[in-house]
Amino acid sequence: MKSILADCLQAMPKVEIHVHLVGAIAAEIVYQMAQKNQVEIPVTSLEEWKSFYQFRDLAHFVEVYTIASRCIQTPEDYVLIVEQFLKHQSEQNIKYSEVHFSTTLHVNKFSDDELFHALETGAVQGETNYGSRVRFIATISRHQPDLQNRALECALLGQERGIIVGLGLAGLETGHPPEGFTETFAEAKRQGLRVVAHGGETEGANSIWGALKNLQVERIGHGVRCLEDNALVEELRISQTPLEVSPQSNYCLGVVPRAQPHPIRQMVDAGLYCTLNSDDPPMFNTNLVNEYSTLATQGFSWEELWQLNLNTLEATFLREAEKAAYRIQWQGFLETLGEE
Ligand code: ADE
Ligand code: ZN
Repeated sequence: MKSILADCLQAMPKVEIHVHLVGAIAAEIVYQMAQKNQVEIPVTSLEEWKSFYQFRDLAHFVEVYTIASRCIQTPEDYVLIVEQFLKHQSEQNIKYSEVHFSTTLHVNKFSDDELFHALETGAVQGETNYGSRVRFIATISRHQPDLQNRALECALLGQERGIIVGLGLAGLETGHPPEGFTETFAEAKRQGLRVVAHGGETEGANSIWGALKNLQVERIGHGVRCLEDNALVEELRISQTPLEVSPQSNYCLGVVPRAQPHPIRQMVDAGLYCTLNSDDPPMFNTNLVNEYSTLATQGFSWEELWQLNLNTLEATFLREAEKAAYRIQWQGFLETLGEE
C-alpha cells in the first residue's frame, strides 16, 4: 500500500460501531489484572497468555474471552479499561465508538450502580484526556440465555444514565439461534433501546433471517454469510440494513480462509450497506486503521474506503444533530486533502 494512502487512513476522522470492550484490552493489562485480582488462569506467564490468543474457532475464542472477562474484577479495573480503550481509539483518530459490553459476563461482581458509575467515570476521563467518545451496547452472550432479563435490566439502567444506547447479542452463534431472545428484544425496543445482533458469522443465512424477523435488529454484526442466500442479499440490499464487517476477525476465527480476499468485495458490489470495524482488536492483532489498510491491499480505492467510513458514521445510533456535527468535521478533513 502507498504510504500516502496509509497516512490518510490514519489521519481521517473515524467512528467505530462494532468493537467489544474486553476484546479491546491489551493482553498485558488482562494478565496484570488476573495477577492483581488473584484470578486463576490456565497459563503461568505473559508469553503463554499471549500465545493463548491463537484461536481455533469462535468457540475457542469465546472460551478465552470469558476467562479474560473474569480477570476484570473491581470498579477501578473498569475505569482503567474504558479510559485505555479511548486512548487507543484517539490514537487512530476515532472520534466516537459504540462498544459491546458483554453484560451477562460482568453482572453480579458488585452492584449495578457501582458498575455503571465505573463505566461512566472511564468514559468521562477518556473523553476529557483523549477527546474520543463512547456509548455502550449491553450485550447478551447467547450461550447464557438465562441471564437475558438481567442484561435487559442493566441496559435500561444504563439507558437512564445516558451511557447505554442499545441491547446486543453476541457469543456462540451455533446452537443459540436468535429465536430464543425474541421477547427480550421486543421489550428492549418498547423501552426505546436500539437493537443489534451478531449473525452470519459461524452460522449461515438462517441466523441473519432470525435476527431480522424475530429480533427486528437495526444492524447485523458480521453478516458475511448472507452471500449464501440470494433472497437474503436482496432483502438486505433493499432495506439497506447496516452490516458491521470485520475482516481480520473473520480471518482469525476461520470464518474466511486467509488465502482468500475478504467477501466484503462481493457484499459492496451487491449494493449492501457495509461498515468497517475491528471487533476485538488486540485479540486479532488488528485495529481499525489496519482493517482499512487490509481492504486497501485487497484493491479497495480511497473513494471506496472513504464511503465505508461515511457509512459507519451514518449507521451509528447518534442523534441527527450529533451526526451532522461529525459530517462537518469529515468534510473539513476532505478539504485539507484537496489543499495538499
Ligand atoms: N464476542 C466478542 N467477539 C465476538 C465475535 N466475533 N463473535 C461473537 N461474539 C463475540
Ligand atoms: Zn463482535
